[in-house]
Amino acid sequence: MEDGEFRAIAFDGRGLRLIDQRLLPETEYWLEIPDTEAAARAIRDLVVRGAPAIGITAAYAAVLAARECPGDAAAWNEALDRLERARPTAVNLSWAVARMRRCAEGPAGVDPDALLEEARRIHAEDIEANRAMARAGARELGDSVGVLTHCNTGSLATGGIGTAFGVIAEGWRQGRIARVYADETRPWLQGSRLTAWELARLEIPFRVIVEGAAASLMAVGAVDWVITGADRITANGDVANKIGTCMLAVLARHFGVRMMVVAPWSTVDPNLPSGDRIEIEERDPTEIWRAAGIERAPAGFDAYNPVFDITPGDLVDCIVTERGVHFPPYDFASPGLVESP
Ligand code: MRU
Repeated sequence: MEDGEFRAIAFDGRGLRLIDQRLLPETEYWLEIPDTEAAARAIRDLVVRGAPAIGITAAYAAVLAARECPGDAAAWNEALDRLERARPTAVNLSWAVARMRRCAEGPAGVDPDALLEEARRIHAEDIEANRAMARAGARELGDSVGVLTHCNTGSLATGGIGTAFGVIAEGWRQGRIARVYADETRPWLQGSRLTAWELARLEIPFRVIVEGAAASLMAVGAVDWVITGADRITANGDVANKIGTCMLAVLARHFGVRMMVVAPWSTVDPNLPSGDRIEIEERDPTEIWRAAGIERAPAGFDAYNPVFDITPGDLVDCIVTERGVHFPPYDFASPGLVESP
């Protein structure tokens, strides 16, 4: 493991285990995931979250499914259908499930050992992609820059050092970054709970801000780059990411701040032409009430809780994948870039 990396997903002799991200930063508790139903629940309930991390979890869960229904390919496929439906927006989930299905079409069929090898490959590839993106993204930053990140994109959200977080960690290591700001990220507080926990582990100094402070921060010139991850990137470079990302991109353009999106190729969905075709997950309004410290709503109070938004590709200055740094106009459907089937 390279410096600063942390593994939040483990598959070993004890089976599949996940660090329970709902309890961080107070408690580091590893949850045992005995079967595919528990894995789907863990993804739905945000025990594990972050686009690449839920893809990796689903890949290991496909191994559990093969052990649950030996010799029954139909039951295995149904279990994978249920996994795939756990969350809709991050394409990494259906991408990983599709890879596991392709593996089962090979000579070994629905074989737990062959599937475990494939799941480990998916995990290892993500770790390597993270490292490549960290290096490529850090090169783009310039010197002595201030960065603002949103949500959580580090080891908790991926297999390795992270996407946007990896660029920040590498940029800091190279001495290119002078200031790091992390958005609190309401309502689930991925920024102030998880990104803060990861930055502190690496001893990178940072300040947490509420989303509403981003404009003020940019207005005084404290930020040169907004750096985020993505849950799905369409052929034209539109980016689905944590709610609030589009707002940051609009502000960044207004204040002359650059916007970098960092995501592995497993997040690119070249089959969707544009972001308006992406299904946006809406979660329970109670997440908003609880984040405000209120357990029950007053009568008649409702909440709208979409947890992702779409940033138009033309507001994004560059998109970093493990294949390189891409600049507008984006065309992720072009034959030279599309992954071979
Ligand atoms: O709802 P979450 O916490 O799963 O949302 C996560 C994000 O939006 C991340 O920015 C994205 O998955 C990229 S993670 C490398």
